[in-house]
Amino acid sequence: MMIKDQRLMIKALAKERDGRFTLIINHQSLLLALLLAVGLMAAIVLPTCAQGSPDPNRPSNDQCLVCHAEPGLEMTLPSNEVLPLTIDADTLDASAHGVHADEEVRCVDCHNDMSGYPHADFPDVDYRTWQLKMSLVCGNCHEDQALDRQDSVHARLIAAGKFEAASCADCHGSHDVQWADPEKHEVDRMQMAEACGQCHSTILDDYKQSIHGQETMKGNQDTPTCSNCHPAHKIPDPRSAEFRLKSPEMCGDCHADKELMSEYDISTDVFDTYVSDFHGATVSIFEATEPGHYTNKAVCSDCHGAHLILPPTDENSSVISANLVKTCQRCHPDANESFTKSWLGHYRPDWKRYPLVTAVKWFYWLIIPFTLVFFAVFVSTDAFRTLKNRGKKKGVGAGQQQGGDEHD
Ligand code: HEC
Ligand code: HEC
Ligand code: HEC
Ligand code: HEC
Ligand code: HEC
Ligand code: HEC
Ligand code: HEC
Ligand code: HEC
Ligand code: HEC
Repeated sequence: MMIKDQRLMIKALAKERDGRFTLIINHQSLLLALLLAVGLMAAIVLPTCAQGSPDPNRPSNDQCLVCHAEPGLEMTLPSNEVLPLTIDADTLDASAHGVHADEEVRCVDCHNDMSGYPHADFPDVDYRTWQLKMSLVCGNCHEDQALDRQDSVHARLIAAGKFEAASCADCHGSHDVQWADPEKHEVDRMQMAEACGQCHSTILDDYKQSIHGQETMKGNQDTPTCSNCHPAHKIPDPRSAEFRLKSPEMCGDCHADKELMSEYDISTDVFDTYVSDFHGATVSIFEATEPGHYTNKAVCSDCHGAHLILPPTDENSSVISANLVKTCQRCHPDANESFTKSWLGHYRPDWKRYPLVTAVKWFYWLIIPFTLVFFAVFVSTDAFRTLKNRGKKKGVGAGQQQGGDEHD
């Protein structure tokens, strides 16, 4: 088998090198095998984050790179896939696990079933199975993320046998892991979206054309990337009733933020008006009473889209007046121009935009308090009169009856 040939080749190759590795390879004695086995056990059992410097079970990266820096090194897996084995030390150094990490991370902290050469036989049938297993190692040091992830749509898909779904290494890479926490480091947010795009390419294309994506590409930190709307480690199923009900709040996180939106001159009424109109009111009521209930009422993304969101002035926008009827017709098949005009959209009625509605509103605002005050005054003067008259009657004498018709 190919792997055997590789081993022979490596033996020859390693002999030419000095010291240690020649030793390891040439003296495959029982003792060494034992040492290796112990090393292997220790590497698996000991917490891999622990740092103890000159540790024979924790060889330095250079000790692995003696062979793995060699260009063109590869092996053939049981599945006949060819796995390139050359590792670029500079890439690893420049990664979050490289020279700038606050704790040293060595090859063997991730490859914790290895401590030297020869390696055990390749442990899996194919590359993907091995890669998914390797990804579990990340959780040894990043427990929170690993715990969060158990709930995510990807983890559930993988558990159900859909191995194409994303593991830690798919989104972050393995040897080229970049900084990801925007609170601690400078993070390239578009690169994170591109990472999702490896597998969700159509959505990435839409996103790149959207107002949000266009701005993110320019380096704007205020616009959402994939993980603002789909929190990367615990992505919920976007087709679930719960996600749909909660989605207006997700947009509202930013669009109801007065300080944030004032920079862009975008109305923050979009959220409040949404909640107070018939679509939104029903959605909020459902959310409060029946969180699992699927709503057929419009949520933000029904009108605006989710990934290809454009400004309402863009000619391709789903909410520009030329396209609005079509958007409403998805749920109101009989909708026409006058139907769309009957909805006030995100605007609170004002004299300029909706004079009639505003007039009616003012009419009620004025006429109701006015009527109430009028009747209150009327009733109280009336009562006052009656009391006063009764007093008079008592004073004047019980025999006189004429005062009775004063009330008409
Ligand atoms: C003497 C050369 C040599 C040294 C030193 C060496 N490797 Fe390897 N490595 C190989 C060869 C050759 C293969 C191909 C498979 C085999 O021969 O087992 C390989 C395969 C691998 C693989 C592929 C997966 C697998 O299970 O085979 C990984 C991962 C790996 N090495 C990591 C390491 C790490 C980590 C170190 C340092 C502790 C290291 N190697 C040290 C030569 C070496
Ligand atoms: C942060 C963890 C981590 C570190 C550090 C790390 N690796 Fe890996 N390595 C992985 C993962 C995960 C894989 C699984 C395949 C993949 O996703 O690339 C892998 C795969 C490999 C492979 C198979 C080829 C490949 O690229 O898939 C080799 C060989 C290898 N590593 C060697 C090394 C050596 C040598 C070092 C140190 C110089 C090292 N690794 C450091 C996590 C790591
Ligand atoms: C041996 C422990 C260890 C293992 C295993 C490990 N990491 Fe890390 N990781 C670290 C350390 C230490 C840092 C640097 C933290 C710092 O300096 O703030 C780091 C940083 C990171 C960062 C950047 C975090 C930030 O603050 O932006 C990401 C992302 C990351 N690791 C992902 C992974 C992935 C994916 C794997 C598996 C392929 C992995 N890690 C395996 C220890 C580890
Ligand atoms: C679907 C893609 C994806 C998967 C899978 C994934 N991550 Fe992340 N990770 C991200 C994104 C995107 C960020 C950036 C922060 C954010 O927006 O939430 C991130 C941030 C991080 C950070 C920085 C701290 C933080 O939480 O923000 C670490 C560490 C990390 N991930 C480790 C892991 C580990 C370990 C795994 C596997 C258990 C993993 N990630 C799985 C996409 C992913
Ligand atoms: C390695 C490939 C890969 C990467 C990277 C990846 N995903 Fe996925 N994702 C999948 C697969 C496969 C599915 C299942 C799709 C299906 O069932 O049709 C999925 C499903 C989803 C779903 C559920 C929707 C559905 O169709 O079931 C969401 C949401 C999602 N991914 C978001 C993201 C986000 C956000 C990122 C980046 C932070 C990301 N994904 C990165 C492969 C990936
Ligand atoms: C502004 C919020 C937002 C952003 C940014 C966003 N999404 Fe979504 N995403 C949603 C909403 C809302 C849905 C569900 C409604 C729908 O599908 O129209 C959804 C649905 C999905 C789905 C499943 C349904 C489908 O359309 O296939 C996947 C997969 C997905 N998003 C991935 C991504 C990826 C990858 C990115 C980044 C390139 C991204 N999303 C960016 C809000 C967002
Ligand atoms: C992380 C914050 C954030 C989230 C979440 C978010 N947006 Fe935005 N959105 C912005 C910012 C910032 C802008 C302004 C970009 C610009 O004009 O430069 C914007 C612009 C828009 C615009 C264009 C407005 C105009 O007049 O140009 C629409 C429409 C929009 N968003 C709808 C949505 C919808 C619908 C959702 C939820 C599915 C959503 N947004 C989620 C931050 C966000
Ligand atoms: C029934 C369809 C519909 C729903 C649901 C809807 N919108 Fe709108 N949206 C529109 C229309 C039409 C416009 C353009 C005219 C207007 O502003 O009323 C618009 C405009 C906007 C604008 C641009 C406002 C500006 O000042 O430039 C933003 C931002 C926005 N919507 C966000 C949202 C958010 C966030 C939600 C959910 C909370 C939402 N929309 C729900 C139809 C809708
Ligand atoms: C995702 C589907 C959906 C979309 C898109 C949608 N609506 Fe609705 N809308 C509903 C549902 C469901 C009701 C409640 C109907 C009922 O209770 O009989 C409703 C109720 C209404 C009502 C109350 C009167 C009535 O017919 O019951 C008006 C007015 C209305 N929508 C206007 C609009 C306008 C204007 C648009 C486009 C800008 C729009 N809707 C887009 C689902 C939607």
